[in-house]
Amino acid sequence: MDDRVISNHELKEDTFEGTIRPDSIDEYIGQSEVKDNLNVFIKAAKMREEALDHVLLYGPPGLGKTTLAYIIANEMESNIKTTSGPSIEKSGDLAAVLSTLEPGDVLFIDEIHRMPRYIEEILYSAMEDFTLDIIVGNDGSSRNIRIDLPPFTLVGATTRAGDLTGPLRDRFGIMAKLNFYTEDELKQIILRTSRVLECVIEENAAIELARRSRGTPRIANRLFKRVRDYALVMGNGNIDLKITKIALDKLKVDEFGLDETDYNLLKSIIEKFNGGPVGIDALASSIGEEVTTIEDVYEPYLLQNGFLKRTSRGRMVTEKAYEHLKIARQESIFE
Ligand SMILES: Nc1ncnc2c1ncn2[C@@H]1O[C@H](COP(=O)(O)OP(=O)(O)OP(=O)(O)O)[C@@H](O)[C@H]1O
Ligand SMILES: [Mg+2]
Repeated sequence: MDDRVISNHELKEDTFEGTIRPDSIDEYIGQSEVKDNLNVFIKAAKMREEALDHVLLYGPPGLGKTTLAYIIANEMESNIKTTSGPSIEKSGDLAAVLSTLEPGDVLFIDEIHRMPRYIEEILYSAMEDFTLDIIVGNDGSSRNIRIDLPPFTLVGATTRAGDLTGPLRDRFGIMAKLNFYTEDELKQIILRTSRVLECVIEENAAIELARRSRGTPRIANRLFKRVRDYALVMGNGNIDLKITKIALDKLKVDEFGLDETDYNLLKSIIEKFNGGPVGIDALASSIGEEVTTIEDVYEPYLLQNGFLKRTSRGRMVTEKAYEHLKIARQESIFE
């Protein structure tokens, strides 16, 4: 399990999630385009007294998909039922969840891309016609039954929208892509967390933390918590710039938010593959990570920030990566 401090997966220690998670759209910082659109669609659905159209939220881990799903339910003043792709193993699992829905409910399916394909099909009629077609009985005496469902809103979250089948994707009326946050937005998130946790952080420290949080609120909040520990043990509990820098250096999070795994990845491309291009499978095995972890967790930030680029022949590091890692490029003898 990936438990590095800047991991953008949810860890067990994120126990304060509940309190620092914003629960209204106004408190949700950043993602203004997504918010503006959702605001309109939510208002319109409420004016029509209808369930909101189905929503697909996609983007890298830790950017606020789950948070937004809860906010949608709150703003619609409806109940939310939650499940996840991997926990739906049999069609009966999905049928069971669907049959508990009440009018206007939000059904949140996290990691929806990990739902088995043949179960996905049950969702088609549920989403489109609010009906549930299931087969009951066994071999000799099985029959189809159709159950009417109340109008509901499916909110799906995924880090890999490309892994959904076309028919499923097409049934979402609203698709919202979450992007990495700007430094200023992360600063606001950090200041909000500081208020909620009643732990003072100086503005320049908040900026430093924001800069090193990989554009990701979950990482910002997690680093905040760690820096808060240093401030308590080494200082008077208040977070200032000096403590922040010491803490982040000790945590091996550099000024761009890169950690040891990022370094390994970039270094491996440079040293073992002469800067690339290298195929994702070879890269994954050279650093001992899963392909999907590289694609979902590390790569998006490295690509966005120009340390890495993707070509038709594989991944390549950029000049910026060489500079940052301070490695002189080995000129290829073939060029
Ligand atoms: N826009 C935001 N404003 C303030 N805090 C946010 C925002 N988005 C996310 N957060 C905080 O970041 C943390 C992670 O968000 P969340 O769990 O919603 O991410 P996620 O996209 O669902 O991640 P995953 O793909 O791993 O499920 C939460 O603690 C939440 O409080
Ligand atoms: Mg989530």
